[in-house]
Amino acid sequence: KMDVFVSGLMKKMTLDEKIGQLNLVTIGAPTTGSVVNKGVAEKINKGAIGGVFGIWGAKNTKEVQEAAVKNSRLHIPLIFGLDVIHGHRTIFPIPLGMSATWDMDLIKQSAHIAAKEATAEGLSWVFSPMVDIARDPRWGRISEGSGEDPWYGSQVAKAMVQGYQGASMKNADAVMACVKHFALYGGAEAGREYNTVDMSRIKMYQDYLPPYKAAVDAGAGSFMSSFNTVDGVPATGNQWLLTELLRNQWGFKGFVVSDYTAVNEMQAHGLGDLQTVSALALKAGLDMDMVGEGFLTTLKKSLKEGKITQAKIDQACRRVLEAKYKLGLFDDPYKSMDVAREETDVLSVANRSAAREITKHSFVLLKNDVQTLPLKKNALSIALVGPLADNHRDMLGTWVVAGDWEKSVSVLEGIKNVVGNGVTINYAKGSNITEDTTFIKRLNFGPGMISIDPKPSDELLKEAVEAAKKSDVIVAVVGESQSMSGESSSRSDISIPEPQENMLKELSKLGKPLVIVLFNGRPLTLTWENGHATAILDVWAPGTEAGNAIADVLFGDYNPAGKITATFPRSVGQIPIYYNHKNTGRPYSSGPTKFKSNYLDISNDPLYPFGYGLSYTTFSYSGVKLSKTKLKGNEILTATVTVTNTGKYAGEEVVQQYISDPVASISRSVKELKNYKKINLQPGEAKEVTFVITPEQLKFYNSQLKYDWEPGEFVVQIGTNSSDTHSASVWWSK
Ligand code: IFM
Repeated sequence: KMDVFVSGLMKKMTLDEKIGQLNLVTIGAPTTGSVVNKGVAEKINKGAIGGVFGIWGAKNTKEVQEAAVKNSRLHIPLIFGLDVIHGHRTIFPIPLGMSATWDMDLIKQSAHIAAKEATAEGLSWVFSPMVDIARDPRWGRISEGSGEDPWYGSQVAKAMVQGYQGASMKNADAVMACVKHFALYGGAEAGREYNTVDMSRIKMYQDYLPPYKAAVDAGAGSFMSSFNTVDGVPATGNQWLLTELLRNQWGFKGFVVSDYTAVNEMQAHGLGDLQTVSALALKAGLDMDMVGEGFLTTLKKSLKEGKITQAKIDQACRRVLEAKYKLGLFDDPYKSMDVAREETDVLSVANRSAAREITKHSFVLLKNDVQTLPLKKNALSIALVGPLADNHRDMLGTWVVAGDWEKSVSVLEGIKNVVGNGVTINYAKGSNITEDTTFIKRLNFGPGMISIDPKPSDELLKEAVEAAKKSDVIVAVVGESQSMSGESSSRSDISIPEPQENMLKELSKLGKPLVIVLFNGRPLTLTWENGHATAILDVWAPGTEAGNAIADVLFGDYNPAGKITATFPRSVGQIPIYYNHKNTGRPYSSGPTKFKSNYLDISNDPLYPFGYGLSYTTFSYSGVKLSKTKLKGNEILTATVTVTNTGKYAGEEVVQQYISDPVASISRSVKELKNYKKINLQPGEAKEVTFVITPEQLKFYNSQLKYDWEPGEFVVQIGTNSSDTHSASVWWSK
């Protein structure tokens, strides 16, 4: 039916109208480059635009849709997209935080709520999920993904696509996902934004490509090409990537849009003038050109000159029209521009309360000496200090185009909401976020504006020390501001900015319990904090319900169970650092030695390993019990551990199952995550946790890029994080 409809429509279309469908323009925010589209209204009337992003709201989008549907010759509806990355109006934790939940139902739910709000405001397409694997926390966009692990990243990719697209994209509350950034964007050299990516095919297939593939398998409707090169060719014009891999090998049937002016940027990459790069991109398999209008202004000429074929233009146009068809836009172009639903479905009480619940699950307890947390709800005085404590602006995190920071709950408000008058709060700002004016100038683009307090810094500090002196416990809310992570936010120093660190150092001299509530869009280097704070609760950038969720956890209404999905290094010098590294021929064992693969000045171990996170309670693990120790072919193995809650609180634990393959035809990672289970245990309770292991878990890409397993010994490892596991070996023959 779709084929017949689209073919019929295309028969009526002129060449200009077909090229028009390949043109995606922005009207307003967000503009993440120097180019902004001009003459949008006339172009819509002429049918020279296929999609629009940068506006939302039922009334606004309806007005623009009406122009397309009423004024353009063939009345083809526009597709409306937006960067809805971690919520639309109700903002959830940044994706790196969401991934720390290890809970696919919650992740799916958050994507569904985002879709519901976005559709109520006229949108049908979201530029999410970002599934780029990242092993370099200097890269600011590590905040937008699910961390470093390909298997885990694949689970999240699938959950997000399902949450956005629902059972059918025709549903009133479903949007089309746009998986980005294809591909390998997170592999930027030195963590510097937009930088070159250069990696072997084995590394691509084994470690970086699985989440994109998982998104294709989950039925994602669209993909966005990345800014970087792959094998020396910009992804946006890379035939192998966009056609061979994505379509021929993986069977992707949707459409591919470029990133913002990425076609034009192929000129700076050194691939030729605008006409040349536009033709290259179309031929490679790009279907829609975001903002740059290289397609709009040069494809006709290229066709006349025989540089591209009509078939290529038709193919791209067909894919864009098919997406509109799948979304039901030809049945009802206004399907999601519903003023009534906007009233009921956006930032509703239900959405906010779901956000509060989900947000709590994303927090990671990094340290908790002498059970400092949870705090008592009465007879306690707290010094609440730090530039992020009474702050709304920095609660939401990166890419919150339609998120309203004024609607967010600050930490101060959240604590008051949860403890009422039971606790005395002595508040002081204590320090600026940063005082580096060059840094501030670079940060102040968009909503995450920061400024220096008119009060001198020593006065701010004095107030914090005074507040601390009259309190039983210090809660310091510190870390990165909203714009310190995200796009174009690479940092070479990933510590807590100096004025905040100075404040922490002064406060620690008082010898009182010092609890750090940490805001961060990336793993930070926290060696000093880990050595001196009594407790550290990582809350990422928590979103609209920030303060409420933080207070729920600080005061024990919820026992934190999040686990980090990106390794925290001890120092920037260890980067890139990730748990599933290779052994090398001279493996590091314990402590640096000469002529081994290690640093002279620091251990190879991270500060906090992948999968790490504490709880208010404690868990003990038994050894691993295997159903068999010798297997053949497609037999199934089960591996069981008993986990016991040995502490005083009920709590959840993410039990992680890894596999290692000590002997193979290529050097394999020391271990790879293959499964996990999140369990809930009452104090004293023990549960058996069983993992089913099939040969599927043993497969890897060999040097011929064949995905298969090789017989031999395998070590099953189960534990509380990637560094703390119990193991047992099996022999598996073919
Ligand atoms: O979706 C984003 C992308 O992630 C980075 N460049 C701009 C796009 C559209 O806003």
